[in-house]
Amino acid sequence: MDVKKVLEAAIKDLQSAITEHDLYEVRVSYLGKKGKITELLKSLKDLSLEDKKSFGAELNSARESVEVFYQERISKIRGDEINQKLINESIDITFPPQNAIIAKAHPISKTFNEVISIFGSMGYEVAEGPDIETDFYNFSALNIPEDHPAREMQDTFYVNSLDEKNNPYVLRTHTSPVQIRTMLNSKPPIKIIAPGRTYRCDSDTTHSPMFHQVEGLFINESATMADLKGTLVEFCRKFFNVQELKVRFRPSYFPFTEPSAEMDIAYEIINDRLSIGTGNKWLEILGCGMVNPAVLENCKIDSNKFQGFAFGMGLDRITMLKHGLTDIRSFFNGNLNWIYKNGFGLGDF
Ligand code: PHE
Repeated sequence: MDVKKVLEAAIKDLQSAITEHDLYEVRVSYLGKKGKITELLKSLKDLSLEDKKSFGAELNSARESVEVFYQERISKIRGDEINQKLINESIDITFPPQNAIIAKAHPISKTFNEVISIFGSMGYEVAEGPDIETDFYNFSALNIPEDHPAREMQDTFYVNSLDEKNNPYVLRTHTSPVQIRTMLNSKPPIKIIAPGRTYRCDSDTTHSPMFHQVEGLFINESATMADLKGTLVEFCRKFFNVQELKVRFRPSYFPFTEPSAEMDIAYEIINDRLSIGTGNKWLEILGCGMVNPAVLENCKIDSNKFQGFAFGMGLDRITMLKHGLTDIRSFFNGNLNWIYKNGFGLGDF
């Protein structure tokens, strides 16, 4: 058999192989156990010593050539694959802007702006605190001692490092620690809101492990539950843009307020659309109450002289209600089509 012809055929086959798998198959068909070149090598034993030498040398060099060419082709195919991937995934920064690609603000950003502006018009200033909190600010200063069952009201994410009191840091489970930070750093009267991210180990259509709250805190010498009610109803009227707004306050329990309440707003479905403020169904949107004197004392505020109220409202919940969005998870999965459809342009602010 003509070794040259076999080699030529092998090279042709390797050249026309397109995928790594094709290449591998071609290699096997020449160099594998039953491959063409292997078979020829086996037939050497029947040849004379002289023929064995020359034919053997020729076959060995053919085998090496196939091997070398195979390796070259493999590197080429792999290189092409990577290049193609880079081309497909590259972003052309010189590409002219398209009309379709316009910036849109997330519904949550719009809610943040609205909340700040509505409470701002009532004289509230914005306060901030860190997302990663110590046990003191998130729990104990808020009258939630260690081992207290109230800690189980909130499925806490713990951080794998300890604060100076040897307690693990936590991802704040509510915006209430900002109350403590503010009271420790300023003197009454205090009138702040603290919008921000909060975290709990929970996930379904109405719960996300990262969500948003706005905290409100008003401390002076005379604030009452009636002021709290008036403030919250006024906020909801403005936020949901409805004059008639049915709300109810249900007694509740929070360790940091006494008495405590939860506020529900009425809603109904009219022609497949959610109507806020009317109807016989209720949605809970916030927790609130008069600041517990123990919390004031923890913050070195004289509870015989000062009193006030606090509230904590779920911003994702009111955003979903206002815009008729049904799945909280769609807020945070980064789908551009979703933001084009549900986001807001500058003119909408
Ligand atoms: N921090 C409470 C929660 O997240 C809400 C709340 C805030 C209740 C302030 C009362 C006063 O559930």
